[in-house]
Amino acid sequence: MTSGRPQVDTSKPHSARVYDWLLGGKDNYPVDQQVAEHLPAEAKTGALQNRAFMNRATAWLAGEGVGQFLDIGTGIPTEPNLHQTAQEINPASRVVYCDNDPIVLRHAEALLISRPEGVTDYVHADVRHPGTILEPARKVLDFGRPVALSLLGLLHFLPDEEDPQGIVRALVDVLCPGSFVVLSQGASDVNPERGEEGVAEYGKGGIRLALRTRAEFGRFFDGLDVVEPGLVTAPQWYRGSPAPRPEESGLYVAVARIP
Ligand SMILES: C[S@@+](CC[C@H](N)C(=O)[O-])C[C@H]1O[C@@H](n2cnc3c(N)ncnc32)[C@H](O)[C@@H]1O
Repeated sequence: MTSGRPQVDTSKPHSARVYDWLLGGKDNYPVDQQVAEHLPAEAKTGALQNRAFMNRATAWLAGEGVGQFLDIGTGIPTEPNLHQTAQEINPASRVVYCDNDPIVLRHAEALLISRPEGVTDYVHADVRHPGTILEPARKVLDFGRPVALSLLGLLHFLPDEEDPQGIVRALVDVLCPGSFVVLSQGASDVNPERGEEGVAEYGKGGIRLALRTRAEFGRFFDGLDVVEPGLVTAPQWYRGSPAPRPEESGLYVAVARIP
């Protein structure tokens, strides 16, 4: 931190900027490109599938009447952003974004352009400390009413020793019945060889990638009601929208309702 403002460290790759490169963005540095260029081709497809899933799930939730969203691990803005999709359906949607990368903080202004009827806000915090997210989020979101909590493309940057299960549980515990959880996670058992290549390439850049099996991903939803079509790969998840083009995917996704 300098002058209280977190600085962007361009000497080391960061997952947000690698992901930005995969999506064709310009907010990345040579260290990020070095990692991204060596990832298996499936990584690019997976990034696009992840964004497309986020938009389909958000549109469905907004259509179901969910008007509040807490999106953790937001990433560098890529249109349409979550609030744009939600507010297209319900202009009064209230959205709190959170990420721990200073470069996302720098783009927060772009994330904060809400329609006048709604609200968007940004919290610079680390998901490993859920309280530091929930406290400021309460100023914008009413946790007594349904909230859609999303952690998309984030869980695979949380190795087991960082207790991702406990982190998700701590966040889910504050949600009232009728709220939703939306998760995506890189798979270790769809194409294990490609998965290992991805782990190795991220590892060379000092980023730990924790891919998980379908069963391991399913444990994040213990005690919750996974909605149709269940725990599937990203292109297989759609509700009330035309089916996406069928394609292979190494990304598991699911949406669950809090009972
Ligand atoms: C692959 S990107 C996904 C971006 C976006 N959610 C999407 O699905 O398009 C992962 C994001 O998680 C963020 N992230 C990684 N570790 C984090 C942590 N401990 N706390 C908060 N955000 C984190 C990264 O900075 C990055 O923006």
